Amino acid sequence: MVDSILTRLAIGLSLTLVAIPTANADITTTLDAKSNLGAWEGWGTSLAWWAATFGTRDDLADIFFTTKSTSFKGQTLPGLGLNIVRYNAGASSSNTYNGTKMAVSSKMIKSRQIEGYWLDWASSNPSSNSWKWTVDSAQRNMLWKARDRGADLFELFSNSPMWWMCKNHNPAGSDDGSSDNLQSWNYNAHAVYMATIAKYAADNWGFKFQSVNPFNEPTADWWKGPTGTQEGCHFEASTQASVIGELRKELDSRGLSSTIISASDESYYDQAVTTFNKLGSTALSKVARINVHGYQYAKGARDKLHSLASGAGKKLWQSEYGENDATGERLVSNMLLDFKWLKPTAWVYWQLLDGGGWGVIDADNDAKSLGAANQKYFVLAQFTRHVRPGMRILDAGSDYAVAAYDASAKKLVIVAVNWGSAQYLNFDLSKFSTPGVDGAVVKRWSTQIGSGSRYAEASDTKISGKRFWAKFDKNMVQTFEVANIVL
Ligand SMILES: *[C@@H]1O[C@H](CO)[C@@H](O)[C@H](O)[C@H]1NC(C)=O
Repeated sequence: MVDSILTRLAIGLSLTLVAIPTANADITTTLDAKSNLGAWEGWGTSLAWWAATFGTRDDLADIFFTTKSTSFKGQTLPGLGLNIVRYNAGASSSNTYNGTKMAVSSKMIKSRQIEGYWLDWASSNPSSNSWKWTVDSAQRNMLWKARDRGADLFELFSNSPMWWMCKNHNPAGSDDGSSDNLQSWNYNAHAVYMATIAKYAADNWGFKFQSVNPFNEPTADWWKGPTGTQEGCHFEASTQASVIGELRKELDSRGLSSTIISASDESYYDQAVTTFNKLGSTALSKVARINVHGYQYAKGARDKLHSLASGAGKKLWQSEYGENDATGERLVSNMLLDFKWLKPTAWVYWQLLDGGGWGVIDADNDAKSLGAANQKYFVLAQFTRHVRPGMRILDAGSDYAVAAYDASAKKLVIVAVNWGSAQYLNFDLSKFSTPGVDGAVVKRWSTQIGSGSRYAEASDTKISGKRFWAKFDKNMVQTFEVANIVL
């Protein structure tokens, strides 16, 4: 069928000037111009490990936080243009205080120990010797580089309270992983730690954290101190509720009442639903945004979490995502599920630099070595460079496409993937009051999942009446920009 379409297209083209052949697309999606799935807040990354290792590099900051092209390892990388940065308040320090020092798992990965600012419990005064504001300078450097390049949404998050607040003094987790590790008399201290960093940043770092999240995957039972490889901490929902209350108080008392609390960065959509239902109305009223991670991948009740959050008037972010598939296939399929069912207003990747396919640029944070950008990098760029902050997310009418509308530029962005054999995808714009200009070029960019084209730009697609179409190879992602289109 595709061949016959090609033949017909060829004939249509050879006759030139005769009308563009009528749509013969194999599948069609009709975009819903009336829909509104929220105003897009942006795309982001967590800093933590990769930035604690490579945080002083300007080329990486250009690649991640601008949309300009940067040459890197013999490749030209189109910048991802991320505007959201999640900064990880460390939990580790190497000092000894009153004969006590941090317990370290024998399996701890060095690059995953993030230096914390509050060294001991002698004083909560940030200008005392109990605090050291010069630690973790590389991660902080990347924070500044991101800001200087236009990043505008900053979140402060914690993987574990400072080691000395923990029952076993081990910031990788409790002994069994499934029980709380924060000492009950330190619920307030953890809140003081987070609020003090937020305040210090506002006063000394030149920007405000929009949000603070004191937890990371708190329901998980895998944060085991004795065998852990990274910082982590289990919190029962009731403990979370207490810490949220303390954090609100500590932020407010420092003049940060406009700094919101996000929670709870659970690993799975279903855990986020359970935690939401268990936090209690008092704590929940202090949570302005639900953050959830994407590690349940294709499973989980995304829609349930969406309705809980929107029903309670809370924002919802997919605040952490990662997997080891360097082809980009899982990234696209899970992101499409997020847009369709979770409907977040921001989407944040975990570690842009990492090994084993986890990064979008291959890297070894311990060996401090950098490899090349993988196909997932370009797949991600298909989304982040075009669906921009402030755009209105639309219902693209199918489970293989995402759409966003820029009202001031009168521009429609569509990102779509073809999972089937090579075929034409047809985009029906008939629900728009002005469906673009007949005959106008629809610019497109394409990336082949796995290997092949990488963000290849073309201007060979045109609007024909109230629709346009393009050929997709199997597993190809394409982004389109339609100009002069009105909802
Ligand atoms: C220091 O350790 C001793 C012995 O464990 C304890 O009694 C004392 O309260 C500790 N002092 C501080 C300031 O923590």
